[in-house]
Amino acid sequence: MSELRFDNQTVVVTGAGGGLGKAYALFFASRGANVVVNDLGSSHNGQGNSSKAADVVVSEIKAAGGKAVANYDSVEKGDAIIDTAIKNFGRIDILINNAGILRDISFKNMKDQDWDLINTVHTYGAYKCARAAWPHFRKQKYGRIINTASAAGLFGNFGQTNYSAAKLGQVGFTETLAKEGAKYNIIANVIAPIAASRMTATIMPPEVLENLKPEWVVPLVAYLVHSSNTTETGGIFEVGGGHVAKLRWERAKGALLKADASLTPGAIARKWNEVNDFSEPSYPTGPADFITLLEDGVKLPSAQPGPEPDLKGKVALV
Ligand code: NAI
Repeated sequence: MSELRFDNQTVVVTGAGGGLGKAYALFFASRGANVVVNDLGSSHNGQGNSSKAADVVVSEIKAAGGKAVANYDSVEKGDAIIDTAIKNFGRIDILINNAGILRDISFKNMKDQDWDLINTVHTYGAYKCARAAWPHFRKQKYGRIINTASAAGLFGNFGQTNYSAAKLGQVGFTETLAKEGAKYNIIANVIAPIAASRMTATIMPPEVLENLKPEWVVPLVAYLVHSSNTTETGGIFEVGGGHVAKLRWERAKGALLKADASLTPGAIARKWNEVNDFSEPSYPTGPADFITLLEDGVKLPSAQPGPEPDLKGKVALV
C-alpha cells in the first residue's frame, strides 16, 4: 500500500509550536512537505510571545531529515506568514488554521478584552491567513484549507461565550470558502477536534487525555488536504481519540402557515409540534434550499389553515 504523500507541496500550520499544530507539522514534514511552522509562542490565554516554540519544532523536523522554516508572527499578520512560505519554498498549497487561545470566563464577568482577543486570534487570524493564501490558490487552481472549530462552538459550553462564538464562526467561514473555492479546486473543511494539549490539560483527567493524543487527529486532516480529495469540501468533522464523524444540519419538516394576517404568535403556538417534528427531516446545505422549501410549501396541505383547536375554557392564543 502506498502512503499519501505531500512531496513538493508547502504546508502552513499556524500555532504549530505545540499541541495539535506540532503534530500536524511533524506529520506533513515526514510525508515530504515543506512546512512553515508558525507560532507566536504565547501562553494558553494569549499572553507574551517567544520564538522557542516554533524553533523547537523546526529543529525536530530538520533532525529527522525534513524541510521546515519557522515564523513567529501572530496569525493577525497572515500576510507575513504566507510570505514566509513563498519566500522560502516558492509556493503555498495547504493552510491549516490551527492557532488558538482561551479566555474562559462566565458571561456575567466577560470583558471586552476577553471577547476581542479571542475573536482576533480565531476569527480575524484565520481570515487573514486564508485571505493571504487565496490569490496563490486561485492562480495555481489548487488549494486546501482546514479551519478549526470546537465542540464548544457547535454546542455551547459554560464559560466560553467568546470562544464558542469564534469557533462556530469557523464553520460559516469554511462553508463559504468551500463554495467560493470550488471553481478553483480550493477545498475547505472544518474540524472540531479533541486532543490532549496544554489547552485541555487542566480540564480533563490524565487517564482520559492518554487516549486523546493529537496524533489521532492528524490522519483525518491529512486525508482532507491531500490532492486525492477532490470532492469532500465544506464538511464539518468531529475527530479525536480514534473517532471520526461528519456532522450536518438537520431541519425539521416544520410548519407552513399562510403568510397573511393569520400568521400570529398564537398560530405559531398551535403549530409548535410541527415546528419541532424531526420525523421527516431534510439536510440543507445552502440558503437556496429554504426558497425551494417555500415554493414547494405553498402546494402543501399544511400551508392551508388547519382546523381551529378546541379552546373551550382556555385562553385563545393569537
Ligand atoms: P495549544 O495551546 O497546545 O496550541 C495552540 C498554539 O497556538 C500554541 O502553540 C500557541 O502558542 C499558538 N498561538 C496562540 N495564539 C497565536 C497567535 N496569535 N498566532 C500564532 N500562534 C498562536 O492548543 P491545541 O489544543 O493544540 O489547540 C489547537 C486548536 O484546536 C485551537 O484552535 C483550539 O481552539 C482547537 N481545539 C482544541 C481542542 C482540544 O481538545 N485540544 C478542542 C477544540 C478545539
